Amino acid sequence: MSLPAQVRLVEVGPRDGLQNESRPISVADKVRLVDDLSDAGLRYIEVGSFVSPKWVPQMAGSAEVFAGIRQQPGVTYAALAPNLRGFEDAMAAGVREVAVFAAASEAFSQRNINCSISQSLQRFEPIMDAARQQQVRVRGYVSCVLGCPYEGRVDPAQVAAVARALHDMGCYEVSLGDTLGTGTAGDTRRLFEVVSAQVPREQLAGHFHDTYGQALANVYASLLEGISVFDSSVAGLGGCPYAKGATGNIATEDVLYLLQGLGIETGVDLDTLIMAGQRISQVLGRDNGSRVARARLAK
Ligand code: HMG
Ligand code: MG
Repeated sequence: MSLPAQVRLVEVGPRDGLQNESRPISVADKVRLVDDLSDAGLRYIEVGSFVSPKWVPQMAGSAEVFAGIRQQPGVTYAALAPNLRGFEDAMAAGVREVAVFAAASEAFSQRNINCSISQSLQRFEPIMDAARQQQVRVRGYVSCVLGCPYEGRVDPAQVAAVARALHDMGCYEVSLGDTLGTGTAGDTRRLFEVVSAQVPREQLAGHFHDTYGQALANVYASLLEGISVFDSSVAGLGGCPYAKGATGNIATEDVLYLLQGLGIETGVDLDTLIMAGQRISQVLGRDNGSRVARARLAK
């Protein structure tokens, strides 16, 4: 299969990246990050979550972040919603695209959203109905697609079943999350082979955490499987509060560098993106998690 001519990058740094930070990050810093990312040319930014503040305290200020950002035309600013309450709060904050999130493993579903996989899918139905009425697009996530911190191996057929359920209920795209970051390129190719029998490849995305250093290889393996949408976090920010030890997503800068080398268009400017990643890394007092950014900044 030939590589896609264009790739759509879904920037999840402000949500997936920051949700795991234990120290407070000001609304102003979050707003600045989102604005820097849109200035770099990213056209899809996951800004925050409308989840229980008891479960993920860092996302509590998401409505204020939405109110503060400079919304540019042509950019989708999305938020996570775990239930109808979250969806309604998101709508009240002016959000026009949401993402629902399920898991391929029962144990992770319980730890992350306190219900079984089938209960979670039932919870999403009223979100899908309300979203249809309000013409809001809904993206779906499946977590633990290449392994679960509690159950170990996850059967690709189980991932395919959950992805299909999300697609059938109306998610326009389903992002497959390697939450743990243990998956390899071979696992990734097999996964997309199995899942694409249930959901068209054009409606699948890859979401790779980089805990084992495999994420970039997994992006490339996905490209070979005809996948052309990838989630990534600027400066490799993040981790998941319910997957202990898991690190951030693949850094957006590093994916961009890979894609540029393959002649694949994204519309994102690498230098501006590097500045955005460096700024938020300094705010957090963290080393920049992008290898490309570190190399460029050392010059
Ligand atoms: P629960 O405790 O079972 O829910 O949590 P509940 O309905 O019994 O409500 C408990 C309390 O939460 C109540 O408040 C509700 O009002 C409140 P209290 O009466 O105790 O004061 N509540 C809410 N508050 C704000 N917004 C809401 C909301 N809903 C209820 N939407 C629940 C169930 C789903 C709410 C909880 O488990 C939760 O919020 N979980 C979120 C977990 C999360 O955000 N995880 C990280 C994102 S997923 C991820 O990172 C993976 C991904 O990146 C892909 C990958 O890498 O694999 C997407
Ligand atoms: Mg994630």
